[in-house]
Amino acid sequence: MPTRRTFLAAAAAAPIAPKAAGTRGELPTPALLLDLDAFNANLDKMAAHLKKQGRAFRPHAKTHKCPEIARRLLKAGAVGACAAKISEAEALAAGGVTGLLLTSAMIGRDRIRRAIGLARRRPETMFSVDDARNVRDLNDAAGAARLKLNLAIDLLVGNRTGIEPGAPAAELARLIAKLPNVKLAGLQAYANNAAHVIGFEARRSFSRAAMARAVETRRLIEKSGIACPLVTGGSTGTYNIDSQIDGVTELQPGSFIFMDIDYNRIGGADGAVYRDFRNALTVLTTVISKPSKDAAIVDGGFKSFSTDKPFPPETKNLAGVTYAWAGDEHGKLTAAQGPVPVELGDRVEFIVPHCDPTVNLYDSIYVMKGEAVEAVWPITARGKSQ
Ligand SMILES: Cc1ncc(COP(=O)(O)O)c(C=O)c1O
Repeated sequence: MPTRRTFLAAAAAAPIAPKAAGTRGELPTPALLLDLDAFNANLDKMAAHLKKQGRAFRPHAKTHKCPEIARRLLKAGAVGACAAKISEAEALAAGGVTGLLLTSAMIGRDRIRRAIGLARRRPETMFSVDDARNVRDLNDAAGAARLKLNLAIDLLVGNRTGIEPGAPAAELARLIAKLPNVKLAGLQAYANNAAHVIGFEARRSFSRAAMARAVETRRLIEKSGIACPLVTGGSTGTYNIDSQIDGVTELQPGSFIFMDIDYNRIGGADGAVYRDFRNALTVLTTVISKPSKDAAIVDGGFKSFSTDKPFPPETKNLAGVTYAWAGDEHGKLTAAQGPVPVELGDRVEFIVPHCDPTVNLYDSIYVMKGEAVEAVWPITARGKSQ
């Protein structure tokens, strides 16, 4: 007979893996779901668009944090994947993902040490820089490791990180060209404040102005005899704008594979709702209490959905029913008129407010083909924010 101690040790050593079989109705909830047909349609549409426009495609993996998804994007024609942080990049590399671009700077000894480790395993990896001292630190660390690091100058074309475009960036490019253990790969030019500008025309003029500064900076750098092959940036909101700007060589959208309410609200070229990509990502919940005929409680709250937006999740198939936050583990459903049309045990599925931080709450994603669970993909970079 196993003792209590050996039983507990065995239980701890063998986590219960989610099953890749069954149906939507059998899933434990809350569960993160991916509609495979919608995902494939989104992926094909973006890949075909960028191919037609003659731009490279390096989708940002901060959205999905899932090596299986990154590998599928590579198969569809992506040249690599962007990663926000070194731990995210390490998890992707361990999952066989190549062509990584780190879009945040490697500041501090620990990050630089890990960057060197990653570059040793994947020499094509590119690292973003916006500071001369950091460039020198990376050069020294690369020299000690007998490596040459590929650097992308992060330009302040939005309102977050980066060095000023124009002369300051050109000066940093000259420093990189002078140092023996680093090489200029190009310009990282992500206009964070362009992606969600409401209205297509407003978004287009905003993004064009931001990316023009990147293209001009590249011209300035190349005028001084330094090769600057890459100008990369763009988002789901600006993919059909930036891909038409001369000099932007590649795009790095992320959310298009999943979509969320935030993106639906920005408006498309053809109307008030942005529908260029399908809502492939949902969270499935269960009604666990009906305190009255006018209210139902589901088992998903702050720990099941992103909470950074001023709007809650929206039901996928229950018109007229709205969700309100009811705590860490709970949400409250009410109907516009009369009793809420769900019973105890019913499944309710939601479109999420913001896809990236929602995905980061789950260990794996259930891949759905109609009602059937086709696969379960681990989100191995989930929680990797260092
Ligand atoms: C540096 C960078 N590039 C690209 C993206 C992708 O943007 P989106 O998910 O809006 O397509 C992001 C998203 O935050 C980002 O931070």
